[in-house]
Amino acid sequence: MQKIVFLSGAGMSAESGISTFRDSDGLWEHYPVQQVASIEGYEENPALVLKFYNDRRRELLQTKPNHGHFMVAELEKNFQVTVVTQNVDNLHERAGSSNVIHLHGELMKGTSTRNPNDPACIRELNPEQPDIHLGDKAADGSQLRPFIVWFGEAVPEFEKAVNEAQTADIFVIIGTSMQVYPAAGLIRYIRPGTPVYLIDPKAVHVNSSSVIHTINKGASEGMDELLKILLK
Ligand code: OAD
Repeated sequence: MQKIVFLSGAGMSAESGISTFRDSDGLWEHYPVQQVASIEGYEENPALVLKFYNDRRRELLQTKPNHGHFMVAELEKNFQVTVVTQNVDNLHERAGSSNVIHLHGELMKGTSTRNPNDPACIRELNPEQPDIHLGDKAADGSQLRPFIVWFGEAVPEFEKAVNEAQTADIFVIIGTSMQVYPAAGLIRYIRPGTPVYLIDPKAVHVNSSSVIHTINKGASEGMDELLKILLK
């Protein structure tokens, strides 16, 4: 079976009603990214950052995967599929994708402030009581924090993603502005000649010498078109 590796971003979940970051009216227009998505911002005002992610988590609990997510999962019938996502939502999993690498963490998990990547401290949050409050503790006794990779932090899953890119037969970029590294650099690791598809309603600049087949559509329509191409 051929292997397809997806690199997905916020646009993948836009049709589920989750805001992207850099589009007009995107999240970073309403919340300064340095304040809510950096380690310095968290150290300066943990309550504000916890609230920001509590709101995102409550929003996620109201949403569902869209047709695009389901079509990504559908490809598992004919291909070996790995999804490398920058999204912290769980919509790929809920649509049935079985192999998802979260480069930027997971909204429905909490972890330790002292040692965020200690597996013993990473735990699922209860959807019935999804908020993290000041004073909630991780297993090591430090403040519980969202299991999110903030700007200024290491991206521990990147190596796994690189291994996947290096063994991809087909590489698909979907719903990402390709502005955040190292995620955007993943395409550098594909083998020469690997077919690359890009699904996005807007033009996206990709820093790569690969030939890119652009599908200028939203995630759902774009995935339908990709399936037509790949399954013909
Ligand atoms: P961006 O908000 O930067 O980019 C979203 C992309 O989705 C843009 O290229 C849009 O044109 C596209 N888009 C919008 N609607 C779409 C639709 N219906 N279907 C398909 N694509 C659509 O989001 P990311 O590239 O994911 O990190 O951002 C990368 C990282 O920056 C995020 O993971 C987040 C952010 O800061 C952290 O918070 C650590």
